Amino acid sequence: MKGTDVAKAASILARGGLVAFPTETVYGLGGDAASEAAAAKIFAVKGRPRAHPLIVHLAPGDHGRPPRLDGWAREIPELAKRLVAVAWPGPLTVILKRGPRVALATTGGADTVGVRVPSHPLAQELLRAFGSGVAAPSANRFGGVSPTTAEHVVHDLGSEIDYVLDGGACSVGVESTIVDFSRGMPVLLRPGGMARSAIEAIVGPLALADAGAPAAPGTLASHYAPRAVVIAVDLQDVPSAVAAARGTVAVLAPESAFLLWVDLPALAYRLPDDLDGMARNLYAALRDLDAQGVDVVIAALPPAIGLGEAVGDRLRRAAGPRDKS
Ligand code: TXA
Ligand code: MG
Repeated sequence: MKGTDVAKAASILARGGLVAFPTETVYGLGGDAASEAAAAKIFAVKGRPRAHPLIVHLAPGDHGRPPRLDGWAREIPELAKRLVAVAWPGPLTVILKRGPRVALATTGGADTVGVRVPSHPLAQELLRAFGSGVAAPSANRFGGVSPTTAEHVVHDLGSEIDYVLDGGACSVGVESTIVDFSRGMPVLLRPGGMARSAIEAIVGPLALADAGAPAAPGTLASHYAPRAVVIAVDLQDVPSAVAAARGTVAVLAPESAFLLWVDLPALAYRLPDDLDGMARNLYAALRDLDAQGVDVVIAALPPAIGLGEAVGDRLRRAAGPRDKS
């Protein structure tokens, strides 16, 4: 079920099966990106609406250069080429016009496609061994917390997938940053593992998604949510939020913040003070708190710089209004 056999994982993909695999951001639930049937299986296992597109993962080209995108995407803007030349392999997904190799089900019927080259060595080995694009959403059930270890994947989807490639804990810990290039100027659809400032240094200021931007389910108001109720507040508002909360309450905050709070009537969950460490540990923390049976998580929002923008985004969405239907 879980192991490090890349050849086995690649042969499962070649037969149309599903394999979970590690990337530097989160674990993906992979299937053949060119296969309508494999994409349909991914949507079924994940419990995700079929109109929500999957990202196509590709192996790097020779000498660490970006791969040839022929067949996967078309009309690639010069600015996108410049960005991926620097960002790949790494935690960046670009949305481009869809090429003919991508199964229509993979893109949820859209004429655009999300493409990314992961840096995790095991992901690259798998992509090379398979020799084609792998469609993969995060390997969790729709709306839940993304997995950052093989154990998380087994916990969420273990009985429904053929194999989990175990590459240890993810080094980035939040999903890739998504930039849309399909409509001309680059638009930020989802903050993520590549900081906005690093992207803007190459392509200039990123516009924010507007009504015409392609829909991205990872940007629904409620997403990335654990079972516990999450309340995301600024650091200084944590004590009053704790005072107002009922049930078993935990505080999720950088460790140094706890030095300020004496006798806080809540369980303390200490995240590293640095923003990269916070991102790396965020999802495991939310999962741990669920496992401990916590009712309410008061989460301190980090500053929106570096990976703090992605951490804040995920906390706000974990705290978003829930559709109970
Ligand atoms: O880091 C990541 O991106 C991870 C790893 C496994 O690569 N994958 C991931 O996939 O987070 P998923 O499916 O959980 O989130 C992908 C997001 C969704 O919000 C989806 O709507 C958006 O990417 N997306 C994919 N293709 C798109 C497209 N053609 N147009 C607009 N949004 C797209
Ligand atoms: Mg996801």
